[in-house]
Amino acid sequence: MALSREPANDIGAIVASLGYDPDFNWAWENYKRTIIEIARQKGLKRHLEIGGGRDPLFLPDEIVTLGFDVTLNDISARELSLAPAGYSTVVCDIAGKDAKAILGPERYDIAYSRMVMEHVPDVASMWENIAYTLAPGGVAFSFFPTLYAPPYVLNRLIPEKISRWMLETVFPDRKDDGDNPKFPAYYDHCFSDESKILPILKRAGFSEVVVLPFWGYSYFWKFPGIKQLDAAFTNIARKRQWRAFSSFAYVIATK
Ligand SMILES: C[S@@+](CC[C@H](N)C(=O)[O-])C[C@H]1O[C@@H](n2cnc3c(N)ncnc32)[C@H](O)[C@@H]1O
Repeated sequence: MALSREPANDIGAIVASLGYDPDFNWAWENYKRTIIEIARQKGLKRHLEIGGGRDPLFLPDEIVTLGFDVTLNDISARELSLAPAGYSTVVCDIAGKDAKAILGPERYDIAYSRMVMEHVPDVASMWENIAYTLAPGGVAFSFFPTLYAPPYVLNRLIPEKISRWMLETVFPDRKDDGDNPKFPAYYDHCFSDESKILPILKRAGFSEVVVLPFWGYSYFWKFPGIKQLDAAFTNIARKRQWRAFSSFAYVIATK
């Protein structure tokens, strides 16, 4: 299995050519571009966006321009109903027992998700279902927050009601009726440490895996003192490549 630090396979080479930078801003700014580049270079046309919800990655006119065939998935029919019109949609729990039957075997060439994996309580089943619905040579891409970055540790430890109230107080758009509601988070297998995630990916049927860690976040920026202390620690973690304290990761796995 090829790993992440060297561009040891074609996905690694594509990401390196895009100028991978371990700062979290790079992850957010380049997620879409990375998917476009992988899909283009590997000729992956049939796309499944997992947990695309109300805010799909590609708008309908972009899909036409790029020549992709995109299906939107979400566990919530309500979230999908808030997306712009014009998508094929499939409602299912990506980790559910019925997901294989609903999605179909070898139906997609690439399946990707952004900020979804932390909400899935059984990530091993999620990867298995994705592998099942990907054609041979297909690519799975998950962009997710990682433990043990302090904001996520707090979110996991604090009861849902309290963490929801805290988040909604600091970021009002995170209310249920806002533009960016909070979904319960479990952080199952949300690590950038390869030793913790490669076994389940291998078991699910993926052969090559690239894991890219990122450091930093903006959660503490409204708290003077904590902001500076946290930024200093994050800088050290990033310089020393302490994956236990990364804040996000890309996992890009080829079937
Ligand atoms: C934080 S939102 C992210 C939405 C979008 N991917 C984005 O980046 O803006 C998480 C989305 O994942 C969906 N979701 C949560 N658990 C899921 C599951 N098990 N299967 C499919 N979708 C799920 C939620 O309904 C929600 O739409």
